[in-house]
Amino acid sequence: MRKLKIFLGLLVLVGLSVLINSCLIEPTWIKIEHLRLNAPSSVRLVHISDIHHEGDRKYLAGIISKINTLQPEFVCFTGDLVEDSTYLSETLSYLRQIKVPVYGVPGNHDFWSHSSFVEIETALRSTGGDWLTDEEITIADGKVTLLGLSGQNQKIPPVIGGGKRILLCHYPDCVDQVQGRRFDLVLAGHSHGGQVRLPFIGALHVPYRTGSYDKGLFHTPAGPLYVNPGLGTFGPRVRFFCRPEITVIEL
Ligand SMILES: [Fe+2]
Repeated sequence: MRKLKIFLGLLVLVGLSVLINSCLIEPTWIKIEHLRLNAPSSVRLVHISDIHHEGDRKYLAGIISKINTLQPEFVCFTGDLVEDSTYLSETLSYLRQIKVPVYGVPGNHDFWSHSSFVEIETALRSTGGDWLTDEEITIADGKVTLLGLSGQNQKIPPVIGGGKRILLCHYPDCVDQVQGRRFDLVLAGHSHGGQVRLPFIGALHVPYRTGSYDKGLFHTPAGPLYVNPGLGTFGPRVRFFCRPEITVIEL
């Protein structure tokens, strides 16, 4: 009987720890992930995704501060600024404080929230960056050409510019639409890494258009794909074994 009580006590303790971690600690416990794809590298960028800002200004300010401390050449954002457009102006007021150009593509929630793409484009351009919807831009003194997808068209436009070719898309399964073309890097978000992951099992659930690319680096025929687990949450503000992430990539 005594052993059973100890066992039950331990079970409650573990349960409480998991609950406290996944609801109160992990959702805002940002991990800075470093990824070096080439050595020596010629480009150093930061990749962020899925902010889903809904009013936690302290958290968003911390994200901006961390990015500025990392001093990348530019920032790539792969969609989902907000779920509710009433938070859009506030989100953009923080993004404007990033001291290097920010290039972004829309996510499903940017469409669903009817966010003003003109407002987003104006904000990103104020950083020296741009909002890319099925268009390319050559940046970083010609070292890089970015192709940003809206996610609304099945056909991926050709890339004309030179340098390192980077594809920005919200949906990880965009690598399956590339059809014989190869990029130096493909960046995506959307999956949130599943938000809740179990050791040895992985994500319990991922959204549509994630394919088999739930989180991290995948070597695909379209090139190396990095799927960022995002900074915000969708649904309950819960993360477990899936910390929010800012990724520094050397290419
Ligand atoms: Fe998202």
